[in-house]
Amino acid sequence: MAYLNENYLKLQAGYLFPEVARRVRDFCEANPEAAERLIRCGIGDVTEPLPRAAIDAMKRAIEELGHRETFRGYGPEQGYEFLRSAIAQHDYRDRDIDIADDEIFVSDGSKCDCGYVLDILGDQNKIAVPDPVYPVYVDTNVMAGHTGEVRKNGSYEGILYLACTAENGFVPDPPAEHADLVYLCFPNNPTGAVASRGQLSRWVDYARQHEALLLFDAAYEAYISDPDVPHSIFEIPDARDCAIELRSFSKNGGFTGVRCGFTVMPKSVLARTESGRRVPLHPFWQRRWSTKSNSVNYPVQRGAEALYSAEGRKQCRALIDHYMGNAEILRSAASKAGLEVFGGVNAPYIWVKTSDGLTSWEMFDRLLRELNVVITPGAGFGAQGEGYVRISAFNSRDKAEEVAHRLQKL
Ligand code: MLT
Repeated sequence: MAYLNENYLKLQAGYLFPEVARRVRDFCEANPEAAERLIRCGIGDVTEPLPRAAIDAMKRAIEELGHRETFRGYGPEQGYEFLRSAIAQHDYRDRDIDIADDEIFVSDGSKCDCGYVLDILGDQNKIAVPDPVYPVYVDTNVMAGHTGEVRKNGSYEGILYLACTAENGFVPDPPAEHADLVYLCFPNNPTGAVASRGQLSRWVDYARQHEALLLFDAAYEAYISDPDVPHSIFEIPDARDCAIELRSFSKNGGFTGVRCGFTVMPKSVLARTESGRRVPLHPFWQRRWSTKSNSVNYPVQRGAEALYSAEGRKQCRALIDHYMGNAEILRSAASKAGLEVFGGVNAPYIWVKTSDGLTSWEMFDRLLRELNVVITPGAGFGAQGEGYVRISAFNSRDKAEEVAHRLQKL
């Protein structure tokens, strides 16, 4: 019999979103009438159709595959040059950020990249994560054996947690302690907070002082409306020496089901060996992709490329404006209902303090039972998320308005 990777035994029973789905399913089975009027504002999954530019490009690409002259088999493992170049040009060089085409690695999404990147990092790294946090950062490290056991409050021994509270505006300062690998996510999932240039500069300073690596998740950068808020960690001087960025087409182009994202791995980012040698990570990341993947399928990469066309950009903007319109409706409705509200201005998530001292899961149950609305309990994102819930703005306008209406009955 084969041996199990026993790190999986340390994981909490279920990944957050399947656990929410299980509870909702049980509720719906027991309350079929309520099930009919259920509105989901839980998982941050897009609801609106794909941008037309992406659909047309994918159709054309599929047609190409149907003809000998234009047929393509395996593509480059790191992604097609046309897409790597469109990304580097539009997302970086057009914004005066120095990123080369071959520093872009196309993948099937940021969630996946969070796990993949651990392949090339040592097991001895001290990991720091914000709390609350996108659960994937923690769980992938648990699976890789980078943590001790789980504590009663759901946190893990061995991880350095960076408290994100209302007092620090949900943006943690660098700690006094040493960390080798720091996860940062801005605009933040789940709190909707954004980090200023000054705050990100302090993190880059920390990384350089501690020779740490910043894993910067910018999956929601397209939702930033404040012109002073950085969209990329590479807007901060010297970040090229200490940061990797993760991005996704899920939330700007509605690709949650299509699957496409990318990492930016600057050639200047180094890691150390046990013997003290310093080596660039880029060739190992390249090697990892060549061995373990054949990248994302050709039609999807053409679809992603089309998001950068003039039409594609306009259509992405319309999608983002739609979801941010929902965010505004939900934000003011929650506020009007007497709830304390954060986020939802530069991000599609609204972070809400629970009422009447309820725990996150109690508030989840209350909203499910009384309003038939599904949200995500903050405690599922970490110990500091207790006492909060997250409302996702990814919805149709009708449903967002209906949720806003129901919130007034709280
Ligand atoms: C969320 O709801 O936090 C996101 O949808 C998760 C994800 O993007 O994987």
